[in-house]
Amino acid sequence: MASTDPHGPGEDQFEIPAHVAPELVFDYDFISDARLSPDPFAGTASLVIEAPPIFYTPRRGGHWVAASHEAAFEVARNSTVFSSKRDGFPLIPILFDPPEHTAYRAVLVRMFSPASVKKFRTQLRDLAIQLIDAVIPEGRCDFVAAVGEPLPVLMFMRLLGIPDQHLRVLRDMVVTSNAISDSAVRNKIFNDILLITRDLIEARRRQPEDDLITALIDTSVDGRPITFEEVQSYVLMLVVAGLDTVVNAISFAVWRLAADHALQSRFRNEPQNFASLLEDMLRRYSPVTPTRVVREDFSIGKAKFRRGDEVLVHYPSASADPSAYADPERIDETRREPALTFGVGPHRCVGSHLARLEIEIVLEEWLARAPAFSLDPQAEAAMHAAHVMSMTSLPLIWANAN
Ligand code: HEM
Repeated sequence: MASTDPHGPGEDQFEIPAHVAPELVFDYDFISDARLSPDPFAGTASLVIEAPPIFYTPRRGGHWVAASHEAAFEVARNSTVFSSKRDGFPLIPILFDPPEHTAYRAVLVRMFSPASVKKFRTQLRDLAIQLIDAVIPEGRCDFVAAVGEPLPVLMFMRLLGIPDQHLRVLRDMVVTSNAISDSAVRNKIFNDILLITRDLIEARRRQPEDDLITALIDTSVDGRPITFEEVQSYVLMLVVAGLDTVVNAISFAVWRLAADHALQSRFRNEPQNFASLLEDMLRRYSPVTPTRVVREDFSIGKAKFRRGDEVLVHYPSASADPSAYADPERIDETRREPALTFGVGPHRCVGSHLARLEIEIVLEEWLARAPAFSLDPQAEAAMHAAHVMSMTSLPLIWANAN
């Protein structure tokens, strides 16, 4: 295993390290496995049935996959053994371990608390209505292009203080960085994002505005003033986290509703169940797969991890694990097992309140304005597996009232 990065070059290496039990070897490429096409979530649901709960794949340099609910839960919560530190640009706070991580994280926890994000409600709803009203008279649209992408991306850029004109360039960079496995290429993209955001941070230092970049410049970390490099690192983290995840969570939810009219009517006609149905929808289409590096030799059942091994916390398969979620395909408002959508453990998503609010408002306004909608039989939805499961096009049709 020459590569320290399982997602780096060397996809065709098939050498299995001696410490891996042969029965735990399972051939799976988390980006281009045949199971994941055309529907990546159908692929991860079959994986969790077919593969051992934790397995080792020789793909992408060789790495472990925590595929079951129990395994993903255990790995994500144990940051003493499973570290988030990686080479490359030090994204704050996601690439730090406790205790360093704790003070860094606290800054964002304050910034994206339920009380803080509530203030964005009206702005979000206005933008959602504007985008949705623009396409309803057409009777058809590509949902990703019309609503799923611009709503969360414009909203998030405006909160940070990034001008709308950067949408296309930034969004394309973030989508590519989440879809590739080569860490050198990813670092090059991160540098390009830093060039754009550095100018904005410098401008806010000269002239403060009412936005999150200014709030970050004014913040302190662990009682000391924040450095310029730390502000850059936070902004890069937020751009990477905020510009892709919500787009996909919204789009996969609408895709399911377009294909499943019974569920669509439940969302429309059962306001009392809306929030719990949505929560389980987010569970079923959990899009994110983070990586950990083993810090010290450790075992879970038959899986013997060695220092330096890499492990994928495969939330998309863990979220479809029937041992945790009976009949995982069913969107069920009565489930008790919490969803893993936003992760567990010290790195649990700090943007979950904002993400939930965005998704809730888009769905509410879409369902209030669009008549019963379906997948367009003349055009295919486009989706692919990656570190963030991604939907790039979702052609919909509905009966036009006129
Ligand atoms: C539906 C949308 C989203 C999903 C599914 C999602 C999912 C996740 C997951 C699974 C993690 C844990 C990663 C790990 O364990 O390494 C995470 C962390 C994080 N997310 Fe999100 N996220 C979403 C939206 C957002 C948004 C809108 C923001 C913007 C504020 C955000 C900011 C972050 C940050 C900063 C972290 C790192 C937290 C830490 O290291 O302590 N996320 N997210």
